This record gives sequence, structure tokens and C-alpha cells, in this order.
Amino acid sequence: MALESKLKRHTARVAVIGLGYVGLPQAMAMADAGFHVTGIDVDGERVESLRAGHSYVAEVSPSRVRGAVRAGRFEARADFAPLSAADVITICVPTPLSKTKDPDVSYIRAATAEVARALRHDQLVILESTTHPGTTEEMIKPALEATGLVAGRDFFLAFSPERIDPGNRRHTVHNTPKLVGGLTPRCTRLATTFYRQFVERVVPVSSSQTAEMAKLLENMFRSVNIALVNELAKMCDVLGIDVWEVIEAAATKPFGFMPFYPGPGLGGHCIPVDPEYLAWKLKGHDFTARFIGLAGEINAQMPQFVVAKVADALNAVGKSIKGARLLVLGVAYKRDVSDTRESPALTVLSLLEQRGAQVVYHDPHVPSVQTNGAALASVRLTGRLLAAQDCVVLLTDHGAFDIPGVAAKARILVDTRNATRRITRFANKIVKLGAPSALLQNVRIKGEAA
Ligand SMILES: NC(=O)c1ccc[n+]([C@@H]2O[C@H](COP(=O)([O-])OP(=O)(O)OC[C@H]3O[C@@H](n4cnc5c(N)ncnc54)[C@H](O)[C@@H]3O)[C@@H](O)[C@H]2O)c1
Repeated sequence: MALESKLKRHTARVAVIGLGYVGLPQAMAMADAGFHVTGIDVDGERVESLRAGHSYVAEVSPSRVRGAVRAGRFEARADFAPLSAADVITICVPTPLSKTKDPDVSYIRAATAEVARALRHDQLVILESTTHPGTTEEMIKPALEATGLVAGRDFFLAFSPERIDPGNRRHTVHNTPKLVGGLTPRCTRLATTFYRQFVERVVPVSSSQTAEMAKLLENMFRSVNIALVNELAKMCDVLGIDVWEVIEAAATKPFGFMPFYPGPGLGGHCIPVDPEYLAWKLKGHDFTARFIGLAGEINAQMPQFVVAKVADALNAVGKSIKGARLLVLGVAYKRDVSDTRESPALTVLSLLEQRGAQVVYHDPHVPSVQTNGAALASVRLTGRLLAAQDCVVLLTDHGAFDIPGVAAKARILVDTRNATRRITRFANKIVKLGAPSALLQNVRIKGEAA
């Protein structure tokens, strides 16, 4: 049967390479639509846990995994043998940065090499990992065509960026529009047909480069706007204005404005990393991506700003960071997720420890982290623990936190997320990032950003 008809009848076999935050929810959505899906991951522990009916991704419940396995629609494998039988292969492997901040596309290369070994006529190969423009055409196409098969004629190749937002229950794989850019119009049509079987709206674009660049624009847009409000927070700090109130006021404009909020810095696998892919690509064209560089710089400085606030708050009560007992609340990079990749909390923890503080942390989603080369375990959050600290630093506003309770018990609370916005008491011990504080009234250092 022709590929297009197998896609429409959901009889196509699908292989998903990389079962992480992106690959697993995708694989489940495909299995729910009736496709037979084989998930392949080189991490044997992940494969074993899926086989045992567990899930390590919050958006995918264990019962969903078990249901798909029981229905014979999902199987997890640590080997690549199922690739040759697959009609569709999606690649959802990591795209991190190397130590020198250059793109590390080795995972894409490794996955592509496995696909090339199994490649046959009529297969549809789709890259979903975020990467620099040109990856699909300049890297994957030649690697696959080295088999003698031709893209767009013998097999089909497309890029379709994943837009998953961990922790977001409203926008799922099913209802988030998906972009598709194929190597040829036929590649685009087949990939569009595939996604239409389980995504409400699929948007074809004219090329794989357009789809690659569109994904980078989405992430740059966030990085630059977050940098803007992070700098605004510093400006408001200098001027004695509440940045949170300013943003809420501006957000009443019904057109031409979208609110972004300051915080302790950027985290996660995407926003701090992906714009660097584009900056790297442009360097090869003698083009310096200034917005990307500046936004990255401003966002990367936020942990230092938080540490300065902690120092000011302690100073206001006659204490120093050295020797202070500090509790950090939340180390995941954002609310209600367990992911600590690139989390600014790790930098804050490390900076506070380096300055001689006795730091502990609590995060209901993160049992332990590495800081300054040593493991640190999450402590149990109790009233006694809160009251025993010189300062509590809220870095991630998890839904599970009892903020009024924390504010009541803490001696000083440095709030980097405006989590205390509804609390009208305790003004004399709450220090918010980018807002005037009764505690710091006399120690505001003017002109810091001048
Ligand atoms: N996490 C997000 O919020 C998000 C959102 C949109 C796009 N993305 C992009 O999607 C891609 C994947 O991100 P993620 O968060 O799912 O990463 P992840 O680290 O959670 O998952 C990737 C998985 O791929 C596996 N893997 C690595 N090399 C492999 C190989 N050669 N063969 C098979 N499996 C392999 C890893 O073991 C891991 O389980 C990245 O390019 C990322 O930028 C991520």
C-alpha cells in the first residue's frame, strides 16, 4: 500500500528516536491515534521504565503508557532493528551546546547514521529536534542519500519543530499547531498528512529551512523579551519602581503588547540554548547576531542579581552571606516541572555556597542536584526549617508551595517570581526582585546599572 494511504488509514508503522520530553508525548499521541509506534532510546533505563509501565515525563501518565502497551500500539526498544519496518521515522534527540557554546549535533548525526543503515524506499524521515537552519538539507539529506536513495523520490525528508511546553496542560501535542517544511513539495505533503492524523492544525511552509528558522524565531522571541524585562527589573530597582506592577499596567493594553516576567534567569533545554545555534550558524557568514548575544548576556547575569539581593537583605539585618543559613525554594527551571537543565537555580546555589553560606534547598519535584561538584538533596519543608533560616530565597514558584505559610514563617523572604503578590502583610521582610522593599529602603544602591 502506498505510504499516503497507510498514513490516512493509520496503518503506517512509526518509529520515534529519542524518548524524552519531546519524543515520549509525541509517541503517545501517535499511538492514541491508532498508529503502531516503536519508541527507540539509547538510555536503557528509560526503555526499561517504560516497559515496566512507568513514565518519567509529567505530561504522560503511567496508565497511558500501560494502555498503549497493552493495546499493542506502543513498544519501547533500546536497539534500532525496528527502523527498517517503520514507514515513518521521527528524530527527537537532544541538541545541546558544547563547552565552547557551539552546537553539539552529534546526537542528530548518530540517529541519522542509524536511519541510513535501515533506509528503504517509501520511508518518511522527519527531524523534530531544534537546530540551526540548514541541518535537514545540508546534514541529514547527504547522509541519507549516501545510501543511493534520493530524497523526494525514493524516500521523503522533512523538518517539523516540536513545540511542546512542559507543564502546560492546556496546549498539548494534539491542539498546538505544527509546522512542516519538507525537502520537496511531496515530502511536505506526506509529513503534513502524517501529523494531521493526530494534530488539529498542521501548517506547511515552503522549505525545511523556513521551519527550522521559525522555531528559532519562537525561542529567540522569548529569550529577547525575557531579557528586556530582566533589564527592566534592574532599572526599576534603581528607580524604586515596582516592575511587576509596571508589567501588569502595560498588559492592560489590548493590542501590541504581550507580558513577559523577570526572574532568576533562563533555564531549560531550549530558550538559553537554541538561539546560540543560530548565532553559531551566522558566524560562518561573518554576521554577528547582536540581539541573541545581548539577551543571552543579560539573562545569564540574573543569578548574580539575585545573590546581590540576598546579600542586601541580609545586610539590612546586620548579617553577611558568609555563615548565613539559607533555604532555596524551587530549583527546577520553571513552575511545576522537574527539569533542572540550565536552571539558573543551580548557579544561584553555587554562588551562595562559594560565598560561604550554609545552603539547603527544597523542591517537591527535584530530589537532588549537583552543586560545586557535590550532591545536595532536597530537604523536607517544615515550619521549623523555615523559621531557622536567616533568609529564604524563592527561585521557582511551584504550585505546591504554601506561599502565605512561607512568608509567615520566614525571617526574610527574597521572592524572585512575584509569588507573594497577594500577600499584604510581612512587607518588612519580603524582598521582591525589581521592586521597592521596606527592608531595603535605606540600602538601595542607586546607579548600579548606569
Ligand atoms: N523539552 C522541551 O521543552 C522541548 C521543546 C521543544 C523542542 N525541544 C527540542 O527537542 C529535542 C529533544 O529535546 P528533549 O527535551 O526531548 O530531550 P531529552 O533529553 O528529554 O530526550 C532526548 C532523548 O533522546 C535519547 N537519545 C540521545 N541520543 C539518541 C540516539 N542516538 N538514539 C536514540 N535515542 C537517543 C536520550 O537518551 C533521551 O532520552 C531538542 O532538540 C530540543 O531542543 C525540546
